[in-house]
Amino acid sequence: MKKVTWRSPSNIALVKYWGKKSGVQIPANPSISFTLENCHSETSVSLVEKETKSKDVELRFYFDGKANMAFQLKMLKFFESIKNSFPFLSTHGLLIHSTNSFPHSSGIASSASAMSALALCLCDLQQELKGKKGYDDKFYRKASTFARLGSGSASRSVYPYIAEWGKADYLRGTSDEYAVPFEKHLHKTFKTYQNTILIASSAEKKVSSRVGHSLMKSNPFAKTRYAQANNNLKEITSALKTGDLEKFGAITEEEAMTLHALMMCSSPSFILMAPSTLAMIEKIKQYREESKLPVYFTLDAGPNIHLLYPKNISKKVEAFIGGELQQHCENGRLIADHVGKGPKKIKG
Ligand code: PMV
Repeated sequence: MKKVTWRSPSNIALVKYWGKKSGVQIPANPSISFTLENCHSETSVSLVEKETKSKDVELRFYFDGKANMAFQLKMLKFFESIKNSFPFLSTHGLLIHSTNSFPHSSGIASSASAMSALALCLCDLQQELKGKKGYDDKFYRKASTFARLGSGSASRSVYPYIAEWGKADYLRGTSDEYAVPFEKHLHKTFKTYQNTILIASSAEKKVSSRVGHSLMKSNPFAKTRYAQANNNLKEITSALKTGDLEKFGAITEEEAMTLHALMMCSSPSFILMAPSTLAMIEKIKQYREESKLPVYFTLDAGPNIHLLYPKNISKKVEAFIGGELQQHCENGRLIADHVGKGPKKIKG
């Protein structure tokens, strides 16, 4: 019986996807993200004999070696919705094992890495069953499309370094249905960019991204936000090409603060920063002011800080983190990550 394994990374958005258009997981605005390296999921999918003769999807899901019913039910629903595109989902049973490199309680969202790893496995199995070899642009585009249906941001995790998702008229080849690589335009400074994740709190998310996206439907600033995101994407893509770190940083921080502001003015409202998030933001701004070093932050839909800086100043920034920021982290926890090389098929 066939088995494939893929390792796929998480990503951190620079211009955020927050809000959907009508349709299945169609973003209200285009987004762009760095692909991470050390935060990843590893997923294997094996095709096994079915237990029944029905056409319904049959699967068993194990997370960290343990059966996980909650995930299994989610996955079953997802596979039922895409089974017309993958005939083996009706004819075979599936045995799925998944692990994350980062702890469940780290406050790092795993949906992007997990869903992209899963989509890569499905697309790979289909290729193998057809006797096709090699992974071309079409393969990754398809994986991105199905990753998107599982979790929007996962569409961006199938590419190395940096990926863009969502139709932007000024960027050729972009689409609402799948992400596209942006690597060939990326200034070399960003290819080794550092991302230290400062764990302000590892508590469960206060609001799911599904609920968060839907709150944008009634957010009074939605229209302005989508216009801002389009403009920020245009500006940041030019900074990413030229290596303009100041412009890159200003847009990245504006995006992080806007994401949180949108949640604060949604109805009901959510405060997703912690007191320590604010303390760290103040210190980062002060350090930047004093040192004149290009150290900027972004945030996901949670309290943890993603500190972004070029590799050539790592030593100085690590000293700053150890001396000023780590004391604000939950039990001093942080994850050292950087822009990464994208997903990888694991042999054997
Ligand atoms: O992919 P989702 O539905 O979990 O949404 C992700 C939303 C953010 O992480 C906040 C922003 C983004 O673009 O990744």
